[in-house]
Amino acid sequence: MGNSIWICRICILWVFCVPYIVLASFTPQDCFFIDCGGSKVMKLGDGRVFKPDSGNSNVGLSPDSHAVISDPQVAISDDLFLYSSARVFRAKSTYTISTNQIGRHWLRLYFYPFENPYYDVKSAVFSVVANGITLMYRFSFSNSSKIAPVLKEYVVDLSGTSSKRLSLTLSPFNGSIAFINGIEVVSLPNKQFPSSAMPVPSGPEVEIPPHVAFETAYRVNMGGPLLTPKNDSLWRTWEPDKPYLVNTASARNVSGNPRLIKYPDGVSIEIAPNWVYCTAQEMADANVSDQTFNISWEFAVEHGFTYLIRMHFCDFVSRTLNTLVFNVYINRKSAIDSFDPSSKTMELSAAYFIDFVANLSKGSNRILVQVGPPTLRNFPSNAILNGLEIMKMSNPSGSLDGNFPADFIVSKRPSKKNWVVLAISSASAGFAILVLISVAFFLYLRRICLKKPKDQCSSWLPVPTHVGNSDSKVSIGSSTSTAYSLGLNRILAFSEICKATKNFDESLVLGVGGFGKVYRGVLENETLVAVKRGNPRSRQGFTEFRTEIEMLSKLRHRHLVSLIGYCEELNERILVYEYMAGGPLRKHLYGSNLQPLTWKQRLEICIGAAKGLHYLHTGAAESIIHRDVKTTNILLDENLTAKVADFGLSKLGPTLDQTHVSTAVKGSFGYLDPEYYRRQQLTEKSDVYSFGVVLMEVLCARPAINPALPREQVNIAEWAMNWQKKGKLEKIIDPHLIGSINLKSLRKFGETAEKCLAEYGTERPTMGDVLWNLEYALQLQEACIQTVSAENSANYIPEIPEWLPQTEPGSNGDVGGAHAMSDREFDVASSGVFSQLMDPKGR
Ligand SMILES: *[C@@H]1O[C@H](CO)[C@@H](O)[C@H](O)[C@H]1NC(C)=O
Ligand SMILES: *[C@@H]1O[C@H](CO)[C@@H](O)[C@H](O)[C@H]1NC(C)=O
Ligand SMILES: *[C@@H]1O[C@H](CO)[C@@H](O)[C@H](O)[C@H]1NC(C)=O
Ligand SMILES: *[C@@H]1O[C@H](CO)[C@@H](O)[C@H](O)[C@H]1NC(C)=O
Ligand SMILES: *[C@@H]1O[C@H](CO)[C@@H](O)[C@H](O)[C@H]1NC(C)=O
Ligand SMILES: *[C@@H]1O[C@H](CO)[C@@H](O)[C@H](O)[C@H]1NC(C)=O
Ligand SMILES: *[C@@H]1O[C@H](CO)[C@@H](O)[C@H](O)[C@H]1NC(C)=O
Repeated sequence: MGNSIWICRICILWVFCVPYIVLASFTPQDCFFIDCGGSKVMKLGDGRVFKPDSGNSNVGLSPDSHAVISDPQVAISDDLFLYSSARVFRAKSTYTISTNQIGRHWLRLYFYPFENPYYDVKSAVFSVVANGITLMYRFSFSNSSKIAPVLKEYVVDLSGTSSKRLSLTLSPFNGSIAFINGIEVVSLPNKQFPSSAMPVPSGPEVEIPPHVAFETAYRVNMGGPLLTPKNDSLWRTWEPDKPYLVNTASARNVSGNPRLIKYPDGVSIEIAPNWVYCTAQEMADANVSDQTFNISWEFAVEHGFTYLIRMHFCDFVSRTLNTLVFNVYINRKSAIDSFDPSSKTMELSAAYFIDFVANLSKGSNRILVQVGPPTLRNFPSNAILNGLEIMKMSNPSGSLDGNFPADFIVSKRPSKKNWVVLAISSASAGFAILVLISVAFFLYLRRICLKKPKDQCSSWLPVPTHVGNSDSKVSIGSSTSTAYSLGLNRILAFSEICKATKNFDESLVLGVGGFGKVYRGVLENETLVAVKRGNPRSRQGFTEFRTEIEMLSKLRHRHLVSLIGYCEELNERILVYEYMAGGPLRKHLYGSNLQPLTWKQRLEICIGAAKGLHYLHTGAAESIIHRDVKTTNILLDENLTAKVADFGLSKLGPTLDQTHVSTAVKGSFGYLDPEYYRRQQLTEKSDVYSFGVVLMEVLCARPAINPALPREQVNIAEWAMNWQKKGKLEKIIDPHLIGSINLKSLRKFGETAEKCLAEYGTERPTMGDVLWNLEYALQLQEACIQTVSAENSANYIPEIPEWLPQTEPGSNGDVGGAHAMSDREFDVASSGVFSQLMDPKGR
């Protein structure tokens, strides 16, 4: 209800949107200007009309959001009026803006922590997510020495799952608040950003997929004045280049007549206004004959990200064509050799731009852009640059700030509401009736089943759609009967399962996962089993259910959890597995009071799991990729033998003529292969990566992701790799291992994990290699145990690590024998911080 009011408001806003620049060939379909917490409509000189986000009744906003207005005494100029009001949030909240178009949009966010008597907005710490992209992570003004307004500009793509809708979520960190002063959403022309660009240093063109988001790092007008949104049809700001010039004496500003700037095909005023093209920096004293220097600009950026660098050129300084030739360098590497802008445009005073992507490797946090004369000196020495844009590109985790995927901040649990919407929109009249009847029928039957005393449960008779019977009867049905005849999986009757689990007695629940609850049960023949019951009301998980049956029907291995049978009656989807008394590996590592595992036990468990995965990858006729390798999916039996479980997400691997499987990203955060995330191409090496995370978890006894820790420690893959690269992995190992772990064995293990965690799949070992290396690590440990009585214990690690991994006493919600956490659950779901981040209300 409230939602529609909000959407309406946005529509009204849109009607008021008047493109200001008459010259502009492009009229944005979407332009929303929102004054958060404001109270009146504000029309700016540049044509933008800001509207209040209006009272608390706005939906998409949490009910406890508060508008805050600055003290009127605070003199804020007309242009900065946006900064005089804000909306403050105590809990995670979302602005939802329905747009007219899909595709890329500018998203500008305004922040200014003005003094006010109600909230300490200056010390607010919060994260911001837009359509699955992390824009800001734990942002705060509290560390800045000078408080100034902050305008953040992003480009986000609205295609994909949430088309025509921008969801902007602000999430306060750990009891803090979040606030925002203004939001701007403007659609972009189609061709504004390239789908590929040349890398520097040069190589094959790098693809820029549409889902990549950008953040404007710098937008500079070389040799010209500050250009405000007034001078730009897309309301961008271009700053002068003086602050970035490395040597101001090397450059001289030149300007031409803005009216004479020509826009050839492929370049429009939306790429950059003529005010950018009509000014430039050229080499100072350009007509002195012997000039050999570069003009250099230097920009501070964040390492670890890839940047899109767009250079704007317009040769209005030459008298004739082909007389201005120069070299362009990025980070001291050649970007363009002997570049002649006029040869590209075939005329003078014509706009031209070119894009590059540059990788900021670890440790480097500057981008150096240089233009200078070529070494071949048949031309007068000169070089120009008119404009420069540096855009940060979202990384494989879908983040523009650190390595924190949006899932980490905004949980994406399927909510009931989604289900209802889905049901309504997909139900045609007849289908709807059918669904209603069968739901009613099902509920009726279920009631009978649940109400009757347990010994009568089996008296419940098969219903018409019943496809299988108890083991004494032959089943009907195509695929299921094949499975039966192969002797692999039994089809179990619902009644039988009711009996085995005492009508799904809550006291037998072993765990709860995305698929549903897992119960302990005893079959008639006294076999202990784990019964995984899909949530009967949702069709979600149906594919997973089928996948798992199909996969497990083909597979039998000592290190894979066996499927004993399944039941598919009406809406019930139940899988019955062998019972794994030891429960998930994670429980033995941290978060419970179980006896800590010895190093040898840990190695044997890793070896077992590696064998299971190796078999998946190579053993069956077709290679199988597990896709969700993690410590909760490695189960232990009563003898601590490891078995790999949960094939709900598994996929058949690439066939011989393919090198990868293309697929939407699924899996668990913290274990996801960055390459898979980036390119959505699945190979066996994605499992190898996840297994590398498991290895580190086994060694350090801490969750893959622990948001309660300082930022650099949150992600185990990053944190442990840092120590491994320094050769000091022992500093962060599980304290229980100190004194008993052999250093050589640890080194071997660390190296193996490091290789598994390599950035690119091709650099990672196969599961077979991993297995071999782990067995070697075990031998090293055993050899040492045999000789230890003779030698002294010099081979052991005697000292206590400086940093002791934190265990999570609270995170043992997933006790149980099987498949407790089969969805993309977070590793520290029950830590205090986390319950804060995850809105229990969902969306
Ligand atoms: C502020 O700075 C301190 C020390 O430099 C750092 O520990 C803290 O995380 C910073 N806070 C934020 C919100 O960035
Ligand atoms: C261009 O250079 C002149 C002289 O050096 C200086 O006065 C002027 O401010 C410069 N213009 C810009 C836009 O930097
Ligand atoms: C901005 O544009 C207006 C006209 O649209 C022009 O008069 C003004 O000089 C421009 N400002 C700059 C800095 O170019
Ligand atoms: C560069 O050449 C112009 C004419 O072409 C001349 O006016 C100017 O003085 C020269 N500059 C220098 C530094 O020689
Ligand atoms: C310009 O910079 C590049 C890269 O930093 C360097 O290789 C080249 O020698 C420089 N050119 C001159 C003339 O100094
Ligand atoms: C980024 O760096 C990696 C290695 O550090 C390299 O393999 C990759 O090709 C680079 N990408 C670009 C766009 O330069
Ligand atoms: C969260 O806040 C509480 C109290 O405000 C504090 O004790 C705790 O250390 C904070 N946790 C983190 C991870 O900052």
